[in-house]
Amino acid sequence: MKIFLDSANIESIKKYNDMGILDGVTTNPTLLSKEKGDPRDVMNEIVRTIRGPVSLEVIGTDYEVMMDEAHKLKKYGQNVVVKVPMIPAGLRAVRSLKEDGIPTNVTLVFSSNQAILAAKAGAAYISPFIGRLDDNGQDGINIIREIGQIFSNYKFETEILVASIRHPLHVIEAGKCGADIVTLPPDILHKMLMHPLTDVGLSNFISDWKKVRDMNPDLVF
Ligand code: E4P
Repeated sequence: MKIFLDSANIESIKKYNDMGILDGVTTNPTLLSKEKGDPRDVMNEIVRTIRGPVSLEVIGTDYEVMMDEAHKLKKYGQNVVVKVPMIPAGLRAVRSLKEDGIPTNVTLVFSSNQAILAAKAGAAYISPFIGRLDDNGQDGINIIREIGQIFSNYKFETEILVASIRHPLHVIEAGKCGADIVTLPPDILHKMLMHPLTDVGLSNFISDWKKVRDMNPDLVF
């Protein structure tokens, strides 16, 4: 399972990238709106920090505008994946961008039918938003299961990038479904990392070792 950070916060991106646990980053206009400074500088820094794929999203909804923005976004770096909304003109852009050698991530996917169409158009990734489906009273993880089965039946190469993750259990469920990638907000990654028993265990090891040191003041490793 690949782990992407769903954030445009450079501090968080660097922190988790330094731990060696990040395979990529996803951004969107909302995430960029939360950061200070010129968004072009922010996108530049993310692309330079991360070796893996970095999704940068188009804003336009017309085919021509999306194509123009996609080519501009791709100039930020070789690892840029252009995020395109799941709309008819978006799928047309996905098709053309594939022909131009630019990988795409189809975002705002809320059904298995949409996932099939995005894969047919040639998306490198599709992003089903499972948290927002849960919020809407539907079982988000169920479409990950369905899409996984369909893609595997037909050997689609499009990767399933599980998005809109709200808690660590979503990650476990996505993993059990065999999803290729999960993209996680920093707070969810933090929750995955921490466990109270780890903290208690470490604190005990440190205090027990202190007793050993007290009895052997010259002890060094
Ligand atoms: C995915 O690429 C999106 O940026 C993201 O997962 C959206 O999640 P949200 O529903 O928490 O905004």
